[in-house]
Amino acid sequence: MKFNHGFFERHSIALLIGIVIVVSIGGLVEIAPLFFIENTIEKVEGMRPYTPLELAGRDIYIREGCYLCHSQMIRPLKDEVERYGHYSLAAESMYDHPFQWGSKRLGPDLSRVGGKYSDSWHRDHLINPRSLVPESIMPPYAFMADRPLDSHNIDAKMRALKVEGVPYTDEMIADAKADLNAQADTYSDGTKLKKHYGDKAAQRDFGGASKVTEMDALVAYLQMLGTLVDFSKYHPERPGNSR
Ligand code: HEC
Repeated sequence: MKFNHGFFERHSIALLIGIVIVVSIGGLVEIAPLFFIENTIEKVEGMRPYTPLELAGRDIYIREGCYLCHSQMIRPLKDEVERYGHYSLAAESMYDHPFQWGSKRLGPDLSRVGGKYSDSWHRDHLINPRSLVPESIMPPYAFMADRPLDSHNIDAKMRALKVEGVPYTDEMIADAKADLNAQADTYSDGTKLKKHYGDKAAQRDFGGASKVTEMDALVAYLQMLGTLVDFSKYHPERPGNSR
């Protein structure tokens, strides 16, 4: 090469400054455009914020450290897609603060577990995993079955998420407790719940007890995972991502 390296090879400070300049150019080229495009996550049809009950279930999932054994991120690799389903889209965790991708799989990935089993399967499995999967190493969470769900600050949590950018409306926040109780009861009026979160929001007794328990919230959360985007209609190459 014609350029004379000699100067840089003999002056370490000049070499250091040279490295900083070259690396910053690379960094700027990669990072600067992200500040100017409106959204780095492509919008996908079907995504909605969590209902208050699902949100409470997600908090229990985090509290109990389920993420220490379970990931929620299907990588675009053949074996993963064959086992778990369509690879995870960025949009699917756009309302997660913090996201639950996880970094360890002592148990299977859970990002598409919704609808895979019945509610009573989940209840039995959480009460005693070995009653269904004899070789399981998952700990039991039987206490959740009759522990009342503490939802006194659910509206405050939604307000905090709103600040983070989750599109909860004032009406959704005002109706949070009513929506939470309605979703966990098969026979209550779910008109407002469906108005706020769409017709696909499931409404039933997830926990199997007469009161609203932690089991209700956790099972509602698990049964929703991966069910929001309809992949029979999802086409990444088409504008708007749907037929
Ligand atoms: C010590 C690790 C560990 C922890 C902590 C853990 N699990 Fe698991 N989980 C497993 C293992 C291993 C399996 C596979 C065997 C089985 O089904 O029990 C599993 C299976 C599951 C399944 C069935 C998945 C499928 O597709 O078959 C669900 C649902 C689940 N866990 C939910 C949870 C939830 C919710 C929590 C937190 C309350 C949790 N797990 C905590 C290890 C763990």
